[in-house]
Amino acid sequence: MSVELADSIAALRTRLAPLRREGKTIGLVPTMGALHAGHIELIRRARRECDCVVVSIFVNPIQFDRNDDFERYPRPVADDMRLCEQEGVDVVFAPGAGEMYPRPQRAFVEVEALTDHLCGKFRPGHFRGVATVVAKLFHIVQPERAYFGEKDVQQLAVIRRMVADLNMPLTIVEVPTVREDDGLAVSSRNVHLNAEQRRSATVLHQALAAAREQVARGQREAAAVRQEGLNVLARQPAVRVEYFDVVDSDEMQPVERIERPVRIAAAVWVGATRLIDNVLVEV
Ligand code: PAJ
Repeated sequence: MSVELADSIAALRTRLAPLRREGKTIGLVPTMGALHAGHIELIRRARRECDCVVVSIFVNPIQFDRNDDFERYPRPVADDMRLCEQEGVDVVFAPGAGEMYPRPQRAFVEVEALTDHLCGKFRPGHFRGVATVVAKLFHIVQPERAYFGEKDVQQLAVIRRMVADLNMPLTIVEVPTVREDDGLAVSSRNVHLNAEQRRSATVLHQALAAAREQVARGQREAAAVRQEGLNVLARQPAVRVEYFDVVDSDEMQPVERIERPVRIAAAVWVGATRLIDNVLVEV
């Protein structure tokens, strides 16, 4: 069976209605396209667990805080379709902006507190845009299961909380971060790095690993762990740190002492490209 393209909500609903009546499990993998090894891992997991796999491809304008980032976001539609075909995806839902936002959007999903730190602090409105579009996608597709990457850990926490607090009837599945051989997390934005920037970018994962190592050696003061990460990042002057923080895993609030499992999460700029990554630290 070859992959089907639905570019309207009506076409998608028509395609899914009979499957739902037959009691088939529908899995959704929400993406913004430019599919890479990280997305493929999500799709494979969905393929193993669901009867019908829907991949949504939509570069969501309301989650971008910078217009240049939205404009230059890669959109290789033909390659994405080919990849979905290879991975046995049933339906690609790729609506235009007019289909998702026919009028100015007036209803939004806001997840409080969890969005105060990390990326939320530096990208005003970003998580409101993410939560809103993901809620729309859940209502349009009505999946039993939806797949998200651990790489975007604050996004995952926000979506989990939205689903729990608003009683949305589906399961969120978390997929571990896929990395390049040198540890750099795979990302659609990596294509913007030139060769030298690409080499510098590996310091992000090294800094997170060094910070985690401090905890493994018994350090429990978050400030010291953070300083270790910053010291490693400082070895690459081309890399500008946006944040490097130790937060609790559920509420995404900075902690002072590490007494429960935490996330160490960071965002850096390499030239005009913003990269994020995080590691789980268990104690
Ligand atoms: P996008 O950046 O395309 O990512 C889609 C999904 O792929 C997200 O759940 C993300 O965490 C996951 N992902 C990205 N890189 C990954 C990697 N290296 N390893 C594992 N998973 C990875 O995130 C978004 O799109 C959007 O915000 C979206 C949720 C689609 C809403 O617009």
